[in-house]
Amino acid sequence: MKNSIGLDKSKVKTLTEKLNDLLANYQLYYQNLRGFHWNLKGNDFFTLHVKFEELYNAAQLSIDEIAERIVTLEAVPLHTYSDYVKQSSIKEYKNVTSSHETVSKTVENLKILIDKERDALKIADETGDESTVDMMTELIRFQEKTIWMLNSFNHK
Ligand SMILES: [Fe+2]
Repeated sequence: MKNSIGLDKSKVKTLTEKLNDLLANYQLYYQNLRGFHWNLKGNDFFTLHVKFEELYNAAQLSIDEIAERIVTLEAVPLHTYSDYVKQSSIKEYKNVTSSHETVSKTVENLKILIDKERDALKIADETGDESTVDMMTELIRFQEKTIWMLNSFNHK
């Protein structure tokens, strides 16, 4: 059985579950970045305050793209905080203020997102869904580069 964009319905169902899981994790990643942006203390404040804003703005765009891809694939994107918190492997961080810790926690969150994107990419490939493959590739490339830069910043 094909959906209205010619993809196998049962494969797409598995894919949209993966994308919803990714979406939930992205929302927690996003909110963690907001917390870091606000609560950071110390000499790196001006550098990282701006960097976290840049990252959460990028995350906001990705969140919308992922959610709208889910709708395009004829499923419903998760859209409540309670679902996000329940679903996400990325956990909430509270009262993190040091530059070293905010950066290392951001790297940890990004690694989780990349794992989930690689997984979604594999399923998208098996589904013949090149648009989602392309989207995942772009997200992974950006996040891998971000990890490099954040690790360079934290290098002792
Ligand atoms: Fe701000």
